[in-house]
Amino acid sequence: MLYLKRLIRSAMLLSILAATTVYGAQTRDLIIDTDPGADDVVALLLALASPEELNVLAITTVAGNVRLDKTSRNARLAREWAGREDVPVYAGAPKPLVRTPIYAENIHGQEGLPGVTVHEPAKGLAEGDAVDYLINTLRKASPHSVTIAMLGPQTNLALALIQAPEITQGIKEVVVMGGAHFNGGNITPTAEFNLFADPHAAQVVLASGVKLTYVPLDVTHKILTSEQRLKQIEALNNGAGKLVKGILDEYVKADMVHYGLPGGPVHDASVIAWLLKPELFSGRQVNLVIDSRDGPTFGQTIADWYGTLGHDKNVFWVENGDAQGFFDLLSQRLARLK
Ligand code: BDR
Ligand code: CA
Repeated sequence: MLYLKRLIRSAMLLSILAATTVYGAQTRDLIIDTDPGADDVVALLLALASPEELNVLAITTVAGNVRLDKTSRNARLAREWAGREDVPVYAGAPKPLVRTPIYAENIHGQEGLPGVTVHEPAKGLAEGDAVDYLINTLRKASPHSVTIAMLGPQTNLALALIQAPEITQGIKEVVVMGGAHFNGGNITPTAEFNLFADPHAAQVVLASGVKLTYVPLDVTHKILTSEQRLKQIEALNNGAGKLVKGILDEYVKADMVHYGLPGGPVHDASVIAWLLKPELFSGRQVNLVIDSRDGPTFGQTIADWYGTLGHDKNVFWVENGDAQGFFDLLSQRLARLK
């Protein structure tokens, strides 16, 4: 029975792929760099359930929400839950470029995945290091053909760029979950977690000149869960819906209390939603500066929203999003999984 269900699901995903080929729509080659993490896992499920738009070449992991062994295990769990063991998972940097490591176990739990029971997935890591994988893949990629979704500290890509600056040739664009301007920070009053966890890495990526989009707290704090939206996911009545409902139920609690919000953000999944349906979001091209000076602004992102300084506009800053549109998209894609 289980085998039959898996077969039907694979056939469904394959038929989506086939339809894409027939109608000639372009899938986007994508590497997801991530530190799962509750919201990272939701993002991974959303991406892996969307093969007609996203050709996920690999998942690369980094230390962030929890230590590297756990983020790598959780990435493999997401891949298993999505029935996409075909996608390799490479483990990357165990610590930031310069600063001492920080983790977010208070939000994501000791295992980095609240609300569900974790296990050791059947399929292991791919051989080799995530940084080498990025270098080798981007070096030989067609010019500006690969998109990178950065869902955690930007250490892996920064290390790759430091060792092999020419890899920018293979990068189409980098979409970062990180930063905060209007909203203020979530780890300090000024800094968002991913930027605070490795601001020096984010500076390296920014200085490389690659096309950059930031999906900051300014927008993710507007795309909140609600009882109704979580029910919508639960009503899918499949394993993925149950998992995501379980994870989010637990994950959003701390933010709801801390910010007095009616629901909680699902930060990283907005990066994937942006890639799938950019029309759900709005923002503008700005000049971005990242602060890495010791002190109260360590890790702060300063977005010149009004162009006050007249400096080069180096980042597309997403500022608003259609919350219900996001949850409809998420539900629709999760419905395809087992
Ligand atoms: C970001 O920090 C992490 O805890 C989440 O996974 C997300 O990437 C939100 O600030
Ligand atoms: Ca993350």
